[in-house]
Amino acid sequence: MMNYMLAKLETQMQRAVDLQKDGNLPLALSFYELMFEILNFYEALGYRQESDNIRSLALACQQTPEMVLYCHAQILFHRRKYQSAADTLETALLLSPDNPLMLLLQARAQIALDNYSEAHAMDSMLQKFDPASGGARDAYFMLKAELEMPGEDYYTWLQNFHKWLKPASYVEIGLGYGRSLALAGPDTKVVGIDPYQGTWEKLNYVCPHGPATLFPLTSDAFFEQYDLRKVIGYETFDLGFIDGLHLFEQALKDFINLERYSRRDSVILIHDCLPIAPVVAERERSTGFWTGDVWRIIPCLKTFRPDLKIMTIPTKPSGLGVVTNLDHASTILTENYDDIVRYYLTLSCPENFDRRCLVCNAGPADEGYVKEQFCGNPD
Ligand SMILES: C[S@@+](CC[C@H](N)C(=O)[O-])C[C@H]1O[C@@H](n2cnc3c(N)ncnc32)[C@H](O)[C@@H]1O
Repeated sequence: MMNYMLAKLETQMQRAVDLQKDGNLPLALSFYELMFEILNFYEALGYRQESDNIRSLALACQQTPEMVLYCHAQILFHRRKYQSAADTLETALLLSPDNPLMLLLQARAQIALDNYSEAHAMDSMLQKFDPASGGARDAYFMLKAELEMPGEDYYTWLQNFHKWLKPASYVEIGLGYGRSLALAGPDTKVVGIDPYQGTWEKLNYVCPHGPATLFPLTSDAFFEQYDLRKVIGYETFDLGFIDGLHLFEQALKDFINLERYSRRDSVILIHDCLPIAPVVAERERSTGFWTGDVWRIIPCLKTFRPDLKIMTIPTKPSGLGVVTNLDHASTILTENYDDIVRYYLTLSCPENFDRRCLVCNAGPADEGYVKEQFCGNPD
């Protein structure tokens, strides 16, 4: 399986190189970033030489010194060599001061080095860019998320839940490239549901402890066609993650469907519950960096299900909702589904971030607190 994944990555890197050769630099750059991130995952699993070979495809096609430097900086950043990445980017930015992606990476390196004043200065520079130029608008939102929600990203939090709960079963709705799915531990039965990405051909990450069971279906179709108990081999699941279609009514449906198979202490995580700006939370996608209006599920559950224990971890880039004290027999959401959806679609996303944190029930991004509140008593 690992060799299959690496061969696929090589083909994908070659495609990104071809995109750059065809003149589509912004798209090629976003693919390189994705590839470098993925290759780091395989390098950490011991595939150093193979990863280097694939990276060299991107490095070999660069025609300018600033692009060579940028690619090296990406590699260093993903290897967590933040000071070296920052030094490399400093030179790259002297050569190409108007590149928003270089500026974003430099700001992220500065944040990782705890130099927040430098990162804020770069944020001011990014705001002056033409939003339409080469990813400047998305770079601005990405940086805003890093600055407003410092600390670990949602992948690290998801990994924490795996560490704390050691779930016997994990169900994920919405797989992307499979990065979150691959975080499960060795003793977890893993189920992944996604109509577009639910096959190994589409995924780039694979859990080192063994592949998940995939269902290339919408979450609705999955719950119509399958009994989750039979799929996981247990009466209830331990950990669920909702990250599929980014619309409130779908996230709510996913929650209802998962809760039917829960125990009181099962945990459901919901991605994108704290958007960084109202524009990225619109139902119609107008930004590359997009969360949709999933955030509405938090005030909705707070009101209609006061029996649940709920909070949003303010973790970059868009918050992670956590829900427990579940009740598999509850029918309140199903019985009132249409009215709930109609009402909550009228709720607007607050402009002010502190107000948004209130509406989305953000709590402290504190590991001890979250573990104690949602995963039983700390060790
Ligand atoms: C943001 S990605 C998931 C990212 C992934 N969980 C991660 O953190 O790495 C959202 C995924 O939801 C999937 N999706 C869209 N509609 C869906 C649906 N109705 N049911 C399940 N998944 C859906 C998309 O194909 C996409 O892969």
